[in-house]
Amino acid sequence: MYNITLIPGDGIGKEVTDAMKKVVEAAGVNIVWDEVEAGEKVIEKYATPLPDYVIDSIKKNKIAIKGPVTTPVGKGFRSVNVALRKALDLYANVRPVKTFEGIKSRYDNIDLTIIRENTEGLYSGIEHSVGDFAGESIKIITKEASDRIVDFACKYLKNNDYKRLSCVHKANIMKISDGLFLREFYEICSKNGIEKSKASDKDKEIYADDVIVDAAAMNLVLNPEQFDVMVMPNLYGDILSDLCAGLVGGLGIIPSANIGKDYAVFEAVHGSAPQIAGKNIANPTAIIQSAIMMLRYMGENKPADLIEDCLKEVFIEGKILTEDLGGNAKTDEFSEELCRKIKLKRA
Ligand code: NAI
Repeated sequence: MYNITLIPGDGIGKEVTDAMKKVVEAAGVNIVWDEVEAGEKVIEKYATPLPDYVIDSIKKNKIAIKGPVTTPVGKGFRSVNVALRKALDLYANVRPVKTFEGIKSRYDNIDLTIIRENTEGLYSGIEHSVGDFAGESIKIITKEASDRIVDFACKYLKNNDYKRLSCVHKANIMKISDGLFLREFYEICSKNGIEKSKASDKDKEIYADDVIVDAAAMNLVLNPEQFDVMVMPNLYGDILSDLCAGLVGGLGIIPSANIGKDYAVFEAVHGSAPQIAGKNIANPTAIIQSAIMMLRYMGENKPADLIEDCLKEVFIEGKILTEDLGGNAKTDEFSEELCRKIKLKRA
């Protein structure tokens, strides 16, 4: 039996996390969910969107899964997501992006992972106004944080049998901050036995190279199949992972993990989608895929594989798909079909 913290979140959060819970249960994993609320709805009572009980619960259970939490734009409280990542030092954000057979997209063979530095960069939260005339946000890139995220990416590349590790940066313009990230990238890659590639070395088993962020955006659209693992500072990772979601069928399917030394928080890449909240039409695949990542992190590979196989079957059959994927199934119809398949395979 496992104790896991569950933050349902806002908007479509409850619908998709309810679906996820049913699917994990159908796969036979015995989880006691420690359900805690965060975000706008708790502010009045606790005077913060991230009360201590949320952090305490995750510290106790070590693992959490969360639905999306709304963040007001341009005013109000700072993002609960950013605060959570900082409070628990969840330095690595891992976003695997894969095409599913049966889901319509412009590409067939994408299998890449974005690894985003989660604790600093332009998300350090150091901002101020200069009178009424300017605003300043400070971008911080440290050697320590760069080294550990690159080291994480090197190990991820090797453990998942990928070949190419690409650093995404803008060191041609931000020579000091991104320049440091790039320098450390090659240094740490080399320590991990991953050498910088030359064009002639492309048949090497594993290699490292770097791409400027604007060129990376274009190359991801032109030929995304060429990339394997991409590691980058916070803001570039935020933007490119949504871009990559678009390449494989949208935000409804992409999972993510926030990993630190002691704790891990799994969540969908998408937000709270207020326009479709409460309508039972949200696609729960992203949070279900996040649960698959969570089960693998826990060493529960068998139920993780089972859920993944059944997801693939649902998509290949193409009969029960949510609206974002061109179907007309409701959230619970989709999760019921998935649970039915899982139970059938387990019987
Ligand atoms: P969003 O991801 O909520 O929505 C973008 C588009 O994708 C919308 O058209 C939405 O309907 C669609 N979409 C998203 N998830 C879907 C799903 N599971 N099934 C079907 N369609 C889906 O992004 P947006 O509108 O920029 O953000 C809304 C709120 O969510 C904001 O307050 C934002 O700060 C917050 N947010 C929270 C995140 C988190 O908690 N990790 C991540 C991203 C945004």
